Amino acid sequence: MVLDTRVTRLLGIEHPIIQGGMHYVGYAVLAAAVSNAGGLGTVTALTQKSPEDLRAEIRRVRALTSKPFAVNLTLLPSLAPPDYGAYARVIVEEKVPVVETAGRNPAEWITFFKKHGILVIHKCVAIKHALTAERLGADCISMDGFECAGHPGEDDVGNYVLLAKAAKKLTIPFVASGGVGTGSQLAAALALGAEGVNCGTRFMATTEAPIHDGIKRALVKGDERSTTLVMQSVGNTERVFKNRVTTEVREIEKRNPGKIEAIRERGELPEEFSGERRPRQQRVERGDRHGADRRRPFVRRVSEEDGRRGGGNHHGAARRFGARAVEAVTRAS
Ligand SMILES: Cc1cc2nc3c(=O)[nH]c(=O)nc-3n(C[C@H](O)[C@H](O)[C@H](O)COP(=O)(O)O)c2cc1C
Repeated sequence: MVLDTRVTRLLGIEHPIIQGGMHYVGYAVLAAAVSNAGGLGTVTALTQKSPEDLRAEIRRVRALTSKPFAVNLTLLPSLAPPDYGAYARVIVEEKVPVVETAGRNPAEWITFFKKHGILVIHKCVAIKHALTAERLGADCISMDGFECAGHPGEDDVGNYVLLAKAAKKLTIPFVASGGVGTGSQLAAALALGAEGVNCGTRFMATTEAPIHDGIKRALVKGDERSTTLVMQSVGNTERVFKNRVTTEVREIEKRNPGKIEAIRERGELPEEFSGERRPRQQRVERGDRHGADRRRPFVRRVSEEDGRRGGGNHHGAARRFGARAVEAVTRAS
């Protein structure tokens, strides 16, 4: 079934499905697979160690697909911020058609990309930020509800409320992001006024996602209670997969609310919060997937329904989710 929306027309894609930027997951192979399947694949800029590495990754995407794709540029608080300007210049020089901006103070970057004729999807968790992005010239908004993996913001607003309000307030098109993994959820998002969906977790359980099979297995086995929130006490909430590490982080936070040092001492703090690159993270490169996987708690559930379908055969399940992930999400079943 073909779904023709302002988002498919704007982005030149066949299905209104975007694979959102994912740190240490959004490499060329996954992005190209999503784009080839008719969605919009996304490479995550800051996963690349340097702007020149990003350039090479963009060229890898181009070698694998002639379809539109995006680069995600995430602006997160950091004691040692990356050279955003250098990454942004590479995106412009390489004529990337779409940028997904996310995080704090995107004004400078939305203006910059628009000046160079690049389509901008701004991902945000609040209507007021979506309106600001619209005013700054963003072409599309990805509304991230409280359900989403990664950073759902501090307002705890779920997609039922957020999307309905976005439909009333925004003039530019928006997509629903957070907790989407099935065709029926895509249909629900469209009914609420969104013109597509942005999925993260759903694309992790795919053959093309460069992550450890154990993580894919955990996602397939997980259910709607398999995620939890960490870092709420420091005002930088993250939705993550519930496991030993994230449970421990929550316990540390309970004992030391608001004290980021307490978590950092335990050594499980993602680099974007500490602003440091710990030795082990420095080894986390494209080839060192196992290191990356153990360090990355940003894993979220796939739907219970998909978990049941996946059964015990994770290879088969991942392949089913992977090769046809985009088609599966479009099927309004
Ligand atoms: C492993 C992982 C890493 C992510 N990293 C980023 C990131 O670096 N920048 C960003 O804007 N969003 C990031 N996200 C959020 C996704 O782009 C997307 O908005 C979110 O996953 C949607 O929620 P869902 O997982 O329920 O589909 C990440 C998500 C996951 C699962």
